[in-house]
Amino acid sequence: MVDECQVLIREATIEDLKRVKFLWLKLAEEMYKIEEYIFPSKENAERWFSSVLSTLREGKGKVFVAQLNGEIVGFIYFIHSLRTFLEVSKQVALISDMYVKPEFRRRGIGSLLLEKCFEHLRKLHIKHVMLSVLSENLAAVKFYEKHGFKICRYDMSRNI
Ligand SMILES: CC(C)(COP(=O)(O)OP(=O)(O)OC[C@H]1O[C@@H](n2cnc3c(N)ncnc32)[C@H](O)[C@@H]1OP(=O)(O)O)[C@@H](O)C(=O)NCCC(=O)NCCS
Repeated sequence: MVDECQVLIREATIEDLKRVKFLWLKLAEEMYKIEEYIFPSKENAERWFSSVLSTLREGKGKVFVAQLNGEIVGFIYFIHSLRTFLEVSKQVALISDMYVKPEFRRRGIGSLLLEKCFEHLRKLHIKHVMLSVLSENLAAVKFYEKHGFKICRYDMSRNI
């Protein structure tokens, strides 16, 4: 476990976001090894970055980073105001991406990022949060289960 005093969880600055874009590419590389779908390319990192910037500018989401000894070692990106054209009974936030650098995992940093996200959502009176995780991404599945997430739907796929 990291000493909570050593890890600073804070909102990302514009400068941090450039670093976060690089971490997203690392996340995409890891996910591509599990499921070949989203290309872990620099072009996709730019597309992702543009989409994050517009969400942040519209005030619809947040990025928090974990900083340890001056280094950004992880991030969480979530959207609290999802676009929907249908009437819904509750406001649900979406955890879009989260990542902790491999050498800093299993030390509680992911948990601190998630807790910061929950804290922010509670301030917005949002009581529900969802996310998607690849079923073969066992570390992340275990992580989310440990934090109380339960399966509420199945995405299914097959080759045709
Ligand atoms: C998921 C992720 C963010 C967790 O971050 P972390 O800093 O390691 O998380 P924490 O240290 O706070 O929590 C660790 C807990 O998660 C679970 N966990 C994490 N890695 C695990 C692994 N390899 N095997 C089993 N359980 C694991 C365990 O419950 C663990 O608790 P424990 O150490 O007491 O057993 C990190 O593994 C990661 O960045 N993975 C790659 C990117 C990813 O999959 N992102 C999520 C999908 S978008």
